[in-house]
Amino acid sequence: MDTAAAPHFSLPGSLLLLLLLSLRALVSAQLTVVGPASPILAMVGENTTLHCHLSPEKNAEDMEVRWFRSQFSAAVFVYKGGRERTEEQMEEYRGRITFVNKGISRGSVALVVHNVTAQENDIYHCHFQEGWSYDKAILRLVVAGLALEAEVT
Ligand SMILES: *[C@@H]1O[C@H](CO)[C@@H](O)[C@H](O)[C@H]1NC(C)=O
Ligand SMILES: *[C@@H]1O[C@H](CO)[C@@H](O)[C@H](O)[C@H]1NC(C)=O
Repeated sequence: MDTAAAPHFSLPGSLLLLLLLSLRALVSAQLTVVGPASPILAMVGENTTLHCHLSPEKNAEDMEVRWFRSQFSAAVFVYKGGRERTEEQMEEYRGRITFVNKGISRGSVALVVHNVTAQENDIYHCHFQEGWSYDKAILRLVVAGLALEAEVT
């Protein structure tokens, strides 16, 4: 009788365990992207760095990492399939971006925008995607122009 009762009682238990395990897998698959808490300040003509990272740390080598301004498709920079995708990049950023990927195995990346212009004073989105999971951080870049420089000096 005991042997017959055992599977009867263990079945709901194993189902619950299975449910918990798949729930945990689902939750751990969610991405969280973190950017700088305060605006990034730069002067016109300077090189400026936009950082963002996954929290908790996670290898992003095989993810899609994209920076964009107002539109997802109008990309500042795209990394996908393990390489840069300049074909998806806005003309004005070609040759002006350095992708800093030395921390990508920990989910930490950065863009250096060379010779920043006043028109690039904007909100930037740093977007990570892995399968169906994605998240983005919002960064504000404040570009100070010559007017401010003249005021200061
Ligand atoms: C900005 O980046 C360019 C290109 O990599 C480099 O030659 C230049 O020295 C940098 N300027 C500053 C101020 O770091
Ligand atoms: C940045 O501007 C300087 C001076 O105008 C120019 O010589 C240099 O080639 C520019 N660098 C890039 C990466 O556009």
